[in-house]
Amino acid sequence: MDVVERTTTPFYYYDMHLLDETMDQILRHISGYPFQIHYALKANSNPHILRAISKRGLGADVVSGGEIQAAIAHGFKPEEINFSGVAKADWEIKLGLESGIGCFNVESATELDVIDMLAGQMGKTAPIAIRVNPDIDAHTHKYITTGTAANKFGIGIEELDPMVAHARSLAHVNLVGLHFHIGSQITQMQPFIMLCDTVNKLLERYESQGIRFPLINVGGGLGIDYTAPDEHPIAPFEDYFNTFKTHLTPRDGQQVHFELGRAIVGPCGSLIARVMYIKENRGKKFALIDAGMNDLIRPALYGAKHVIQNLTSLDQTVESYDVAGPVCESSDLFATDYQLPVTRRGDILAIRSAGAYGESMASCYNMRPLPPSVFQPEP
Ligand code: LLP
Repeated sequence: MDVVERTTTPFYYYDMHLLDETMDQILRHISGYPFQIHYALKANSNPHILRAISKRGLGADVVSGGEIQAAIAHGFKPEEINFSGVAKADWEIKLGLESGIGCFNVESATELDVIDMLAGQMGKTAPIAIRVNPDIDAHTHKYITTGTAANKFGIGIEELDPMVAHARSLAHVNLVGLHFHIGSQITQMQPFIMLCDTVNKLLERYESQGIRFPLINVGGGLGIDYTAPDEHPIAPFEDYFNTFKTHLTPRDGQQVHFELGRAIVGPCGSLIARVMYIKENRGKKFALIDAGMNDLIRPALYGAKHVIQNLTSLDQTVESYDVAGPVCESSDLFATDYQLPVTRRGDILAIRSAGAYGESMASCYNMRPLPPSVFQPEP
């Protein structure tokens, strides 16, 4: 609680020990396997978080020129950066080429031609992987499902042969792999097993044509436990990596890349807010707090549910509150009918599991300042 006295609310609080422990586990599970983890910067691009992750030797998965710059500035090796993104701008492609990034994950035939042209102009060869849309339903929220035929991402398997042939015919691109990403906050292993099956079949198919890929990128998407953050502070990495160890058959010398975001940083962050007012309206109690949807948009955008704790109240009596922010939108609501100990003006609340897609999606809507961040231990 002493950090609350030193910092104005709302702010993001990061448990850096938990982040480290999470990375320890990941590194332990992949040791001895040709697996490489590329941290998906979009989940959280706070410089201190980036440094803590790059220090452990992870690569980076980026989706914009800004993320390329941030990754390099905060210690990721350019050759360990993979650049995804469905509509890369010319300047972003050029920046990737100049920086010598490891791989462009290509999403369309036109993008392939543009990369080839720009690489040719710069006298370079671009390492590329083709993003395949495997048409697998990840059984997650529709806004974060990416691998079905209805999504804008990737190349359908039916169109893959001509795309592979085209990539191999171009002078300034080097086809090094296939890339997949089926969605986010995936909590069952079944979609990943289906993904492994698809990858295995494609590898066989291309091998029979004499085509080998040095790398396979299976994307990210491993979910975290939003309902019990203290019981499960670390994502189920053992299950997850075992799924790939069991079901994927990488070829000799083939690297398997993972692009995890949420599972790495989600649990270690909380949004800390102060209760401004308790308001009763037609029998409903609202706890109005100083954090809003601009600070953490997940509940408003996806209907996401985060555990909320009152860090101040020791009251044994529990009451039901709608926990809402100050922004002028009805969707600026963190929870409805949420049970909290009797809550009063001035109490401090923690909105848990907000380390991923919290700070990175914050905005200045309503001209509110961006929330600051606090780290324990301090960097
Ligand atoms: N790779 C690609 C190509 C992606 O599109 C994503 C996430 C990832 C990797 C990392 O996925 P993760 O391991 O974090 O699930 N804002 C949403 C999540 C959007 C995910 C977008 N893509 C949320 O707050 O739930």
